[in-house]
Amino acid sequence: MGEPMSVLEAIRTRRSIARMKPDPIPREVLEQCLEAAVWVPNHRLTEPWQFFVLEGEAKRRFAEIRRNFRRTQLPNPDAPEAQAALEKVYQDTVQTPVIIVVTSRITEDPELREEDFWSTFGAAYAFMLAAWSYGIGTYFRTGGLRDYPPLREFLNLQEDRRIIGILYVGYPAEIPQKRRTPASEKTVWLGG
Ligand SMILES: Cc1cc2nc3c(=O)[nH]c(=O)nc-3n(C[C@H](O)[C@H](O)[C@H](O)COP(=O)(O)O)c2cc1C
Repeated sequence: MGEPMSVLEAIRTRRSIARMKPDPIPREVLEQCLEAAVWVPNHRLTEPWQFFVLEGEAKRRFAEIRRNFRRTQLPNPDAPEAQAALEKVYQDTVQTPVIIVVTSRITEDPELREEDFWSTFGAAYAFMLAAWSYGIGTYFRTGGLRDYPPLREFLNLQEDRRIIGILYVGYPAEIPQKRRTPASEKTVWLGG
């Protein structure tokens, strides 16, 4: 598994990885990252998350669902160029080594509901950092696919669960550059 990089280095250097190598990811590394994810801060310790790790046949089924969803968004889905784009969605998805659907519970209490979603995203981010510290890239995506009924049916999701995002996981083929505004321009120090 090798030595993970420091937390600070992982935070600073992690990027969303769109282009991944097809190399498989060892199960024990994924388990380590999931075990790290659940140590996110969590008000009232509700532990609202559940992760669906898709590999093999499940990933192929997910790829079909993702392609079908994309189809619903195209103005002219039967045009030849649309076919190529839809095939690319399918291929990109099946070639991603691991896909993790991150879900959170939905409570009646609006305050708790919001906090549960924050925590679950925090868990996803902790997973992303842990993975990156082992040299594994991730891409967290949201969008309308989260609420697409066939995806919910495939996962057999109960009414009280929401998909908060989908994590695409694999070794980076390319690490893009991104920019950030320095925190000093976003920070107000008071009283010092
Ligand atoms: C809550 C959340 C939702 C996101 N959803 C999407 C998405 O649907 N599609 C996408 O391409 N990127 C999505 N991203 C990734 C961002 O585009 C990415 O983090 C941003 O470009 C900064 O790049 P970096 O992660 O490499 O620093 C999402 C990120 C977050 C935090």
